[in-house]
Amino acid sequence: MFTKVNGIGLFGMNAFPVATEIHAGKGISDFRIVGLADASVQESRQRIFSALKNSGIELKNKSFIINLAPASVKKAGSSYDMAILAAILAAQESIEVDLQSAAFFGEVSLGGGINGVCGALSMAIEAQKNGNRELFLPHENAAEASVVSGLKVYGIETVTQLKNHLTGRKPVTPHKPYVPERAAYHTLPDFVDVKGQENVKQALTIAAAGFHNVLMIGTPGTGKSMLAKRIPSVLPAMTFDESIETTQIHSVAGILDNNAPLVVNRPFRPVSHTASAAGLCGGSGIPRPGEISLAHNGVLFLDVLPEFDRRTLETLRQPVENREIVISRATGSVCYPCNFMLVAAMNPCPCGNFGHPTKQCVCSPQAAAKYAGKISQPVLDRIDIQVEVNPVSYTELSGEGAAEAAAESSATIREKVEKARLIQEERYHGTAVRSNSEIEPSMLGEVCVMDDSAKTLIKNVFDKLGMSARAYDRILKVARTAADLDESGLIMKKHVSQAISYRSLDRKYWGRG
Ligand SMILES: Nc1ncnc2c1ncn2[C@@H]1O[C@H](COP(=O)(O)OP(=O)(O)OP(=O)(O)O)[C@@H](O)[C@H]1O
Ligand SMILES: [Mg+2]
Ligand SMILES: [Zn+2]
Repeated sequence: MFTKVNGIGLFGMNAFPVATEIHAGKGISDFRIVGLADASVQESRQRIFSALKNSGIELKNKSFIINLAPASVKKAGSSYDMAILAAILAAQESIEVDLQSAAFFGEVSLGGGINGVCGALSMAIEAQKNGNRELFLPHENAAEASVVSGLKVYGIETVTQLKNHLTGRKPVTPHKPYVPERAAYHTLPDFVDVKGQENVKQALTIAAAGFHNVLMIGTPGTGKSMLAKRIPSVLPAMTFDESIETTQIHSVAGILDNNAPLVVNRPFRPVSHTASAAGLCGGSGIPRPGEISLAHNGVLFLDVLPEFDRRTLETLRQPVENREIVISRATGSVCYPCNFMLVAAMNPCPCGNFGHPTKQCVCSPQAAAKYAGKISQPVLDRIDIQVEVNPVSYTELSGEGAAEAAAESSATIREKVEKARLIQEERYHGTAVRSNSEIEPSMLGEVCVMDDSAKTLIKNVFDKLGMSARAYDRILKVARTAADLDESGLIMKKHVSQAISYRSLDRKYWGRG
């Protein structure tokens, strides 16, 4: 007897349809899976036979040949179990469900349960694209798949439940459709907690508004980590499509929260300096997404930047530029998006005290230079804004001064950021550019129009400091964002001057302008 059910496969975050064909017969006992299925797929035989036995379901056939088509695509993992199981059941039971419009994926456990799998959202999207109207998947993944519109999602807990539904004996209730949620800003740490540091907050506001990468340099305990953590709270809410893409990546990595089917807050991914290149950019057998992709549409935070392995940092250059990463392995190549805002922090020297108003730095100038020098020029070149974080005074911390009253909440800052983002959206409509950080050199002249005093200032600084063309470009981009925050079409002197101040640390720590 020949039966066919629709399965879904996954490679990286790309899902694809897999027709699961079965030929079941009464002859000699046999079980074969063909169609470029690797060892992990072959093991489904043990899982399914044991699960059926433990569910009290007797097999009426003895020989099974299963073909996973297209046979030209490699298949790995346990998520083909459910489709194979459904095909086995369909070969021996009278099925009430329209198998043509249904799709199946999930892992079967030896005891007869159904286990959750990674990447369910991508597979659910694929099912919908294929015109499947009903999706049978592990109960654990049902909430995640319910985000996809036009699909009736059945979260299955046991083999028996699936059999009873398919035969019409006891139908399962479909999962309730997803009700769109808004970003939960109230759950994020807020800038209102940070006393003083007005100049840093200003720099971070500009960074958030133009999606510029930023580096904070300061002595220990000045609040760099505290400030970094608060950046997602001032970024505009993700669009539905951004949420879907970020969730897909988190789903493939298996880090999705079961209670929150869709990631609605922009990610904040702090990375330890001990991270490997694979941990950062992705890797292993079927390449999994790395931290840069988990930070997609959000913030990647590299604390103590000089402590990172130099080669690990270098691997960031390409993805920072391309906003996606292609990982090639013998099993094939996978592309993951990684449009993140890079936020880095560092101490000014090995002992940390260089530039502290009262504490003494014990480092030799050579040691300090070597420390800063661990960050290569190409990496520094990808950071538009550098800002010094100085210790706050007692008056600011205690709130006895006037500064405390001025501390802005994240909501207030976000409002300004959103306005500036809208201006950019309109400006770059119809181009590949999304924010000022992505302005192409060829667009600078048209997009960054300065008034006369701004031109004079940048010319003077250019001549006096021997500024590089690259530094000039970056100053213009940051000045563009500062002007957008002011809702000014023309870039004025104050915007240029602010942008220049975010490059002045180059000279102090890396001895160049
Ligand atoms: N401006 C501030 N307002 C309120 N609290 C602050 C401020 N700066 C620092 N703190 C307090 O000090 C703690 C240490 O700050 P944080 O860990 O952010 O410092 P850091 O600059 O990252 O230090 P390190 O260089 O050691 O990593 C914070 O958790 C916070 O409690
Ligand atoms: Mg810190
Ligand atoms: Zn020092």
